This record gives sequence, structure tokens and C-alpha cells, in this order.
Amino acid sequence: MSEPLLELKDIKMYFPIKEKVFKKPVNHVKAVNGVSLTVRQGETLGIVGESGCGKSTLARTIVGLLEPSSGDILFEGKSILGYNKKQMHELRRDIQMVYQDPYTSLNPRMKAGEIIAAPLKAFKMTSNLNERVYELLDLVGLKREDAEKFPHQFSGGQRQRIGIARALALNPKLLILDEPVSALDVSVQAQVINLLEDLQEELGLTYVFIAHDLSVIKHIADKVAVMYLGKVMELSDSDTLYHHSKHPYTNALLSAIPLPDPEKERQRQRIMLKGELPSPANPPTGCIFHTRCPIAQESCKQHIPVLEEKDGSNPNHQVACFYPQETEAIVSSN
Ligand SMILES: Nc1ncnc2c1ncn2[C@@H]1O[C@H](COP(=O)(O)OP(=O)(O)OP(=O)(O)O)[C@@H](O)[C@H]1O
Ligand code: SF4
Ligand SMILES: [Mg+2]
Repeated sequence: MSEPLLELKDIKMYFPIKEKVFKKPVNHVKAVNGVSLTVRQGETLGIVGESGCGKSTLARTIVGLLEPSSGDILFEGKSILGYNKKQMHELRRDIQMVYQDPYTSLNPRMKAGEIIAAPLKAFKMTSNLNERVYELLDLVGLKREDAEKFPHQFSGGQRQRIGIARALALNPKLLILDEPVSALDVSVQAQVINLLEDLQEELGLTYVFIAHDLSVIKHIADKVAVMYLGKVMELSDSDTLYHHSKHPYTNALLSAIPLPDPEKERQRQRIMLKGELPSPANPPTGCIFHTRCPIAQESCKQHIPVLEEKDGSNPNHQVACFYPQETEAIVSSN
């Protein structure tokens, strides 16, 4: 097994809620509430969960845009939270981010070539600048001439390729992909995911791939963390998660993926979650999922389930639930 590249240790990110600017906070939005994850060199960790469950906040803490309220982040075995400005600047080479929206994440007044060259200039890597930009365009399947075009002259998928080229300019080790294909048409999504898979193999990259739903990361993720209200509910190698998931929340998410076989699709039962997603400022007591869980028991309201191994035969599979249930035939084996 390869070495851990990134280790998140009990990360919490609480945003203060203040009624008046200079007053003490009246409460906190518990956007990330005790997340521990390890990503090994060369692998892809998928992170999924509904809107507002803390995926982007976690991504921002990893790239140093937010300082977590508590916990530790280790990159190549070293804690990065005490890094000074210069060390953080250097770390930017190794950890890069690709954003969800290829429309707003590119400066509309800069040509594609200038956008891709910007990180190289910031790190004074300007020798053979044009050649490096052409090389990066080629790497993401764009043409040399594209360097002279402005973002509005590209399709959504092409713009996301520019975002990927920019993220690769400094030869990073780790890419944080925050819903990189969510804004794209389904057919284009597959092309961009294929490109990311090819780049990973060619350049030995490690990915944290954030997605809204489990279908997007099915083929690219080696392991998957399912988040709910700032916590990881289930963590597993992909194969186990897609075929032997045990957490009622994961089971509900899986049941929402359309099946390609119409016959199986007709027979399959959707697990509908009741109620609204609670506010991360006032998460439910006990198991935070109890207000929507189809199999919640009285005791779930009082006690907090820890994320732990439930099946002695697979140490890679952890579930935060007192009554884990394997729901068979939720997804086909395609
Ligand atoms: N700077 C901030 N100040 C206060 N609250 C914030 C801040 N950033 C995020 N939040 C809150 O933290 C929670 C998690 O937000 P986050 O953007 O991380 O969710 P997400 O899982 O990325 O959602 P989406 O799928 O919509 O992108 C939300 O309730 C959000 O409103
Ligand atoms: S601990 Fe209880 S409420 Fe929470 S997911 Fe499991 S069964 Fe549902
Ligand atoms: Mg987000």
C-alpha cells in the first residue's frame, strides 16, 4: 500500500454566527464537525453528500484557504497548520484546486494562455513560458491556438479543461476537485472524468474528488466518504460501498441513482428521505441523521454512533450507525 499523502485528523470548522459585528457569537455553523480521512499517494478519495454538508468547506481547509477551528492536517507526514506564509506559498505548488463553476472560476478578461501562465508567473517559473503553456493545453486536449482565446469563446467542458491545465501548471501532487463536472452536461461530464483519469495515470496524481451524488465518482474513486451535516457517515473502498453499503443514508443516496437496465429500474425501490436537511447550526442530538432515518430507533436520539468497522472481515469499511443494514440490489453490478 502506498504512503499517506494527506491526513485529516478530527477536522472541525465552525463559523461563528453573530447578531452584531463586535459582539460574541450567539452560535456556530458546524460546517465540518470532526472529519478524519487519509488519502494515499496515487489514489482518489471521493467525498459525497447533499448541498451544505460541508464538502467545500473541507476542501478549503485542505488548500489552506480556511484555518480549521480544530484538528490537524498532515501533508507528506508534516502538519501544515503551523506553516508560515512562505511555507504555505510553497505548499500551493503541491496542492491545487479545481472549482465547480467553469464560468466564474476563469477571469473573463484574460486569454486562456494567460490564465494557465498565471501560477507559473506567481512562482517565477517563466523560462520557456509559452512552450509550457502549449504543453499544458496539449495535456488537457486543447490546441495551441486556444491560448489566444478568451473564456467566453469556449464550451463549458473546454473551460473546465483550462481550469485543470491551470491547476496542473505547477506539477502538483494533490488535486482537490470540488464538483468539477457538476455544471457540465452529462455527456461532457464523462469526457472530463476520463481526462482526469488519464492525467492521474500519466502524472501519478492523487485526487480528492467532491461530488453531489454517488454516480459521478463511481468509476474514478478508489474509496468514498459519505458526508452528512459535517460528519462522515460511511467510509469504504469503492467496491464495498457501491455493493455492500450499510449506512441508511448511503443506502438512500444509492437508491437515487438511475439504473441503466429499465427492467431493474422498474423493480428497484427508491428510499425516500423524510423531512428537510437540518441546519448545521443546530444539528440533531444523538445520531445527526435520526430526524430523517427510515430505521431510526428511540436510542438513536440520545447516543452518537462513532465511525467504526462493523464487519470484521473488511477493515476498510467503516460505518457510523447503531443498526447498519446492507440493502441488496440497490445498484446493478455495472
Ligand atoms: N464563510 C462561511 N460563513 C458561514 N457559514 C458558512 C461559510 N461557508 C460555508 N458556510 C456554511 O457551512 C455549511 C457547509 O457549506 P459548504 O459550502 O461547505 O457545503 P457543500 O457541501 O460544499 O455544499 P454544496 O454541495 O452546495 O456545494 C453550509 O451551511 C454553509 O452555509
Ligand atoms: S444510528 Fe440510528 S438514526 Fe442513525 S443512521 Fe443508524 S439507525 Fe439511523
Ligand atoms: Mg460545495
